[in-house]
Amino acid sequence: MSKHTILVTGGAGFIGSHVVDAFIKAGHTVVVVDDLSSGSVKHVHKDAVFYEMDIRSPQLQEVFAAHAPTIVSHHAAQIDVRKSVEDPLYDADVNIRGTINLLEMCVAHGIKKFLFASTGGAIYGSPTDLPADETCPPKPESPYGTSKLCTENYIALYSRIHKLSYTILRYPNVYGPRQSPHGEAGVCAILAGMMLSGETPVLYGQGKAFRDYVFVSDIAAANVMALRKGAQETLNLGSGNAVTVQQLFDQIKRFTNFTKKPLLKPLRPGEVKGIYITGERAARVLGWRPTVSLEAGLQQTVDFVREQRTETEAEHSR
Ligand SMILES: NC(=O)c1ccc[n+]([C@@H]2O[C@H](COP(=O)([O-])OP(=O)(O)OC[C@H]3O[C@@H](n4cnc5c(N)ncnc54)[C@H](O)[C@@H]3O)[C@@H](O)[C@H]2O)c1
Repeated sequence: MSKHTILVTGGAGFIGSHVVDAFIKAGHTVVVVDDLSSGSVKHVHKDAVFYEMDIRSPQLQEVFAAHAPTIVSHHAAQIDVRKSVEDPLYDADVNIRGTINLLEMCVAHGIKKFLFASTGGAIYGSPTDLPADETCPPKPESPYGTSKLCTENYIALYSRIHKLSYTILRYPNVYGPRQSPHGEAGVCAILAGMMLSGETPVLYGQGKAFRDYVFVSDIAAANVMALRKGAQETLNLGSGNAVTVQQLFDQIKRFTNFTKKPLLKPLRPGEVKGIYITGERAARVLGWRPTVSLEAGLQQTVDFVREQRTETEAEHSR
């Protein structure tokens, strides 16, 4: 397999840092660009070159010139659905304008392939025909879903006009170590964090909201597969399984020995009641299937949140 220099935007974030690890493990050279707005430099692999930089910055040109990447894997984004409702201009600025800045550099520097971390959970809206496949008409219910869809259209445009090769990967709810328990996104880490500290979690959608959950190492594996396969494809990386937030709560409860009842509340603005997506096309095109069970993945997630808490407590007592 040919070795690449891969520029990973958002490589200090939850998913991006696992993708960086997987690329490096596969023998590629990795350059990370991340403004650390939600990511952390401690998640960046020690063999990756790191730039603290905004994807909207004109200085991005210097990174392309210095490293001559052949592939760009684009994970940097404003990812918070509620924040996108509160501040749609900021969401569009990072997600749409930031991506256009990146695409311009890709064309100027003759990038071989552009991989994009899109969303299946927020683009399809609330379809009745589930699990949703790629033929499901996109009907986002939030500015975040809309900015991701718009970005997909820009990538397809650059492909038509400039012959840029791409694979768009539509992620489901991704979970695992390094997801922040303090963010607004990432229900598994949030539930684990709250239960470990004895706080009562709120389950939105009265606990009946459902999604599909894929462990982060499976998502990273799909990115490695997409280096060689899936040109000009848009692929759902779904498990095809619906899991309610109540079911998640029940599983995490066992791993944390939590005993209290959760608080049940209605959905918040921009949140969809239920969505899950099938990864059948990704299986055919990439040979990809999720391999980590929900139980094993949640155990690892809880272990990570527990370790983080222990480290933080140790720092505070010093
Ligand atoms: N977590 C999920 O379940 C999920 C689902 C669907 C799609 N996605 C997509 O996957 C990608 C990664 O998400 P994540 O969950 O790892 O979130 P994350 O917040 O951990 O990662 C995003 C990274 O991008 C960086 N970033 C944000 N704005 C930036 C900017 N203007 N310039 C440079 N860097 C910037 C952040 O510091 C962070 O490190 C995003 O594109 C997101 O839309 C995530």
